[in-house]
Amino acid sequence: MVPLSLPSPLAVTTLGVRWLHVLAATVAVGGGVMTWLRLRVEPSDDDGDDVVCLARAYEWLFWAAVGTLVMTGVGNLGSFAPTLPGGTWRTTLDLKLALVVVVLVGSVVRTRLLVRADRSTGEVPVRLLRRAYGVTALGLVALLTLAEVLAHG
Ligand code: HEM
Repeated sequence: MVPLSLPSPLAVTTLGVRWLHVLAATVAVGGGVMTWLRLRVEPSDDDGDDVVCLARAYEWLFWAAVGTLVMTGVGNLGSFAPTLPGGTWRTTLDLKLALVVVVLVGSVVRTRLLVRADRSTGEVPVRLLRRAYGVTALGLVALLTLAEVLAHG
């Protein structure tokens, strides 16, 4: 009979952190692409309120997902302790972290733009929002690509 071997608690925790990281990435990327598509599909400026409502919901999801990604990302790094791999892996990680900073700074600008559009009584700047969510989606897809190269490249 083959002896039953259970995974260690550390392996289960590492897998759980990785799972949460991927789940948060899915929410951030999927929501960003969906919001951008919604802004693209409806070219009319008349239904700005609906669009702002959707974008507002995404902002909550986005910032929660980003907080989770940063925390679980540090957890992922911890699984390499005591030393991180070097070479191409390290270069890809540095690129990924630099892009994370760019996406975060850009997202502060995007969120402020949405808050201003939400508070204003004037016309919703649909074209500007479309561009902002398009750039966010593009940045997140680039991050996802770098992340997969990092993990499996
Ligand atoms: C401070 C921010 C982040 C840190 C420190 C971080 C760190 C890491 C590390 C160390 C890995 C494992 C790499 C390996 O196994 O060789 C990883 C995997 C991954 N990361 Fe991140 N990450 C961060 C943000 C993000 C963001 C913003 C996204 C997506 C938008 C993302 C998506 C992923 C994905 C999809 C994987 C691959 C999981 C797999 O296929 O097993 N990460 N991350």
